[in-house]
Amino acid sequence: MGLLDGKVAIITGSGGGIGREHALLFAREGAKVAVNDLGSDRHGGGRGGEMADKVVAEIKAAGGDAVANYDSVASREGADGLVWSALNKFGKLDIVVNNAGILRDKTILNMSEQDFDLVVDVHLKGTFLVTQAAARVFKVQGKGGRIVNTTSLSGLLGNFGQGNYASAKGGIYSLTRTAAMEFQRMGVTVNAIAPVALTRMTSDLQMFKGMTPEQIGPQYIAPVAAFLASDLAADITGTIVGVQGPKVFLYKMTETEGATREGGPWSAAEIKERWAEIAR
Ligand code: NAI
Repeated sequence: MGLLDGKVAIITGSGGGIGREHALLFAREGAKVAVNDLGSDRHGGGRGGEMADKVVAEIKAAGGDAVANYDSVASREGADGLVWSALNKFGKLDIVVNNAGILRDKTILNMSEQDFDLVVDVHLKGTFLVTQAAARVFKVQGKGGRIVNTTSLSGLLGNFGQGNYASAKGGIYSLTRTAAMEFQRMGVTVNAIAPVALTRMTSDLQMFKGMTPEQIGPQYIAPVAAFLASDLAADITGTIVGVQGPKVFLYKMTETEGATREGGPWSAAEIKERWAEIAR
């Protein structure tokens, strides 16, 4: 018995990196997988079917079932086309993993509007469009569903030189929380993963210097996605799960205890005076 026997899953950007690992594991666990990948380079340039085709071939060679889809998640037609390709091939939909992504790192002072828009379009708008298209199907099917998004510590904590990417990933955090609330009554859970893994996206980062794929490769991320996509996580929604190699943890937004002023609004000077208490 596989953890995902009989399930149909869409995994965006699963022609390489973390998404590919998700697709291979989901298929090993019994899911039928729609392998979506635009086939672009890591900055969003170019496109092609080879990456998705290769993963589909790997899944089939191992005895699983999969279909390739080459649409961009960043457009309405692409997101709808992807959901329809899964439905056409497998007749239903149970799971969506929003994973597709690109990088166009620049400091805010040097960032073009196009670099901002493209990164936000692929990550945040792509997650919204695929989520919406899938949720419409989940609603009609009436059997719940699972959505696993992909945020980043960059989006949760900020990161130098990633104003576009951090904004998009921060938006995915908020979208995950909101979708979890809105879809609860449909029995659809929505969670997000904040991964750290050595892939083509991160291969030149200083933090991975000297580390091997065995120590921090995408194989550590996929089991967390499989867990959140499975019946084991039926009662878990709205959480942000960090995965860094063998370490799995949760990110939580905190609110300080703060201070309350008696007798009406604060003055700026009073806020300054009691700042330590407010921030504690
Ligand atoms: P990757 O570059 O290997 O994989 C991303 C995949 O998305 C590529 O195969 C690419 O062709 C595909 N893609 C790009 N634009 C697309 C579009 N418009 N439509 C469909 N597919 C598209 O990178 P990696 O590392 O596997 O990243 C996967 C996800 O994990 C991304 O969302 C990334 O932001 C996120 N992430 C990765 C981290 C890491 O340490 N590798 C850290 C934090 C987040």
